[in-house]
Amino acid sequence: MRIILLGPPGSGKGTQAQLLVQRYGIVQLSTGEMLRAAVAAGTPVGLKAKEIMAGGGLVPDEIVVGIISDRIDEEDAKHGFILDGFPRTVPQAEALDELLRHKHLKLDAVIELRVNESALLSRVETRVAQMRERGEEVRVDDTPEVLTKRLASYRSQTEPLIHYYSERRKLSTIDGMMTIDEVTRAIHRLLLALGAVEPRTHARS
Ligand code: AP5
Repeated sequence: MRIILLGPPGSGKGTQAQLLVQRYGIVQLSTGEMLRAAVAAGTPVGLKAKEIMAGGGLVPDEIVVGIISDRIDEEDAKHGFILDGFPRTVPQAEALDELLRHKHLKLDAVIELRVNESALLSRVETRVAQMRERGEEVRVDDTPEVLTKRLASYRSQTEPLIHYYSERRKLSTIDGMMTIDEVTRAIHRLLLALGAVEPRTHARS
């Protein structure tokens, strides 16, 4: 199974991707996580991405496409993957189409998680508060100012993908305002309806 989770910051892409990993045993490919790891490790990619991410902008397409194309080739991604946060621009989507075509692979679904803006802001606020309580390092881009810029990047550069995938009959939209469990169940129902999972696929404990 190969799926894309699409949605603004705080819409629940990472949360749902992790639940789908447990349920279906496929890997989560999060460009945000990969880039944060590169920044933390001080790699050449991390050095290029650091300031852009801290300012709420998008890292250049060629960098993220390079990361994803290498990652898709790894053994654990051969059985399927959930793309979380990629693609984020039309050129990234075109590059992904080309990559998949070249490997004779198809996308099962592009799932847009739709959440209203005030809920996004309060979710990220809650995440920051919870991380602080646990003594974890808070993401540098989780401040109100940078979050506003991340939302603007989403609206201008990522939202056009809704049209891109809708035209290609790949897009499904799920109400991301439901509880986490309800969203997971809605995704499972959708994947069943698309024939992307077997009816007997149960949650793993
Ligand atoms: P990335 O790491 O992808 O961040 P993001 O898209 O801004 O998303 P978030 O991680 O903030 O939110 P999420 O949708 O995963 O929600 P979550 O599940 O955490 O990207 C970071 C940066 O990296 C980008 O700004 C960019 O600079 C760069 N980058 C990454 N990919 C790139 C690309 N392809 N091209 C260029 N640049 C790229 O949930 C949020 C909170 O809400 C959690 O606390 C969660 O518990 C809670 N929650 C989740 N679901 C629900 C629910 N249903 N009800 C109530 N609470 C919920």
